[in-house]
Amino acid sequence: MSRCDQANSTLFLRGLHISPPIALAPMVGLSHSALRSLVAERGGVGLFFTEMLTARRLPHDNPFCSPLLVKSAVERPLFYQLITAEPAEIRPAVDRIHQLEGQGIDLNLGCPAPMIRKQGAGLALLDDRRRLQAVVSALRKCTELPVSVKIRLGKVGDTKALKNLCLFLEGEGVDLITIHARLDEEKFCRHPRWSTVAEVRPGISVPLLLNGGIFSVEDARRSLAITGAAGLMIGRGAVRCPGLLADIATELFGWTQDEVTPSSKDNFFSFFHLLETRFAPERRLGRLKQFTAYFAEPLFFGHQLSSAVQASKSMAEAGERAELYFSHEFAKQEETDHHDRAD
Ligand SMILES: Cc1cc2nc3c(=O)[nH]c(=O)nc-3n(C[C@H](O)[C@H](O)[C@H](O)COP(=O)(O)O)c2cc1C
Repeated sequence: MSRCDQANSTLFLRGLHISPPIALAPMVGLSHSALRSLVAERGGVGLFFTEMLTARRLPHDNPFCSPLLVKSAVERPLFYQLITAEPAEIRPAVDRIHQLEGQGIDLNLGCPAPMIRKQGAGLALLDDRRRLQAVVSALRKCTELPVSVKIRLGKVGDTKALKNLCLFLEGEGVDLITIHARLDEEKFCRHPRWSTVAEVRPGISVPLLLNGGIFSVEDARRSLAITGAAGLMIGRGAVRCPGLLADIATELFGWTQDEVTPSSKDNFFSFFHLLETRFAPERRLGRLKQFTAYFAEPLFFGHQLSSAVQASKSMAEAGERAELYFSHEFAKQEETDHHDRAD
């Protein structure tokens, strides 16, 4: 039911068109409505994900005021990412996603956080194949929406085991697989292992999205050339540079974008105002701080912006301090281009 049309750079998942084949990654505290809207405004994104949502809690969250569920019309198509190890939790969670008019459902099979693993979810679900099968087949039976999964490379980079896992998931009716190209225990600062994905890909029919370490158009080009993946999922790179997906879509997928590229200041304050429109006052500053920690990284003297925002006690103070940072001559220079180097 899913296929990739290379010529048109479009993925087809059960009637859903994903074009360009570039996704904004699920990231706790970051991939909320404000960031999704900002990246949507900059363009070049074919698919959005929520941050991981606990399947047990989702049916009880208020769709109108839960910060996890707030969204706007531009954040489409949107896949809701579930985290669970309990097949019985699937149906109520999926019912809620249907009510929320999500366009797809993603299962998190890659989270290494100890608290999640203790519940047998995320990475730990892969250690119990019968339970995994029960969860995935429950998901498949409950919905006609596209179902995707997000995985890592495994404990030791055993490509045979990884391919078997992908084929198993494909056999269970999964429509899209995202591979975060790092071993289970590897930190995000470690170079991603794109070449391992290249070894695994042949013979897998569902489209693969490559994730990990894409911070520039050149990274995107190289990672696609190495892996032959059908598309990309980008996380921190989109927080650092909300226009990165548009640049990649333009250079690699024949997308056209506006000629005026918003400045870093424009991006910062657009995000700032989106936080004000999407979230209750008490929820804004924490999200601004989390965003700024990544956003400031590639900027000249970005640590000054970052520490100014981290030290702020209110949105107004953070806004004033950010204005001051952007008023300096150095802040107007081109952004630095230091990023992960992959194999
Ligand atoms: C702050 C943060 C939160 C994350 N939360 C999630 C999550 O909720 N679900 C998930 O599957 N991955 C999560 N990830 C992993 C990202 O989706 C992605 O796999 C990782 O950042 C590597 O991609 P990148 O190099 O493009 O950032 C998170 C990453 C970060 C940095």
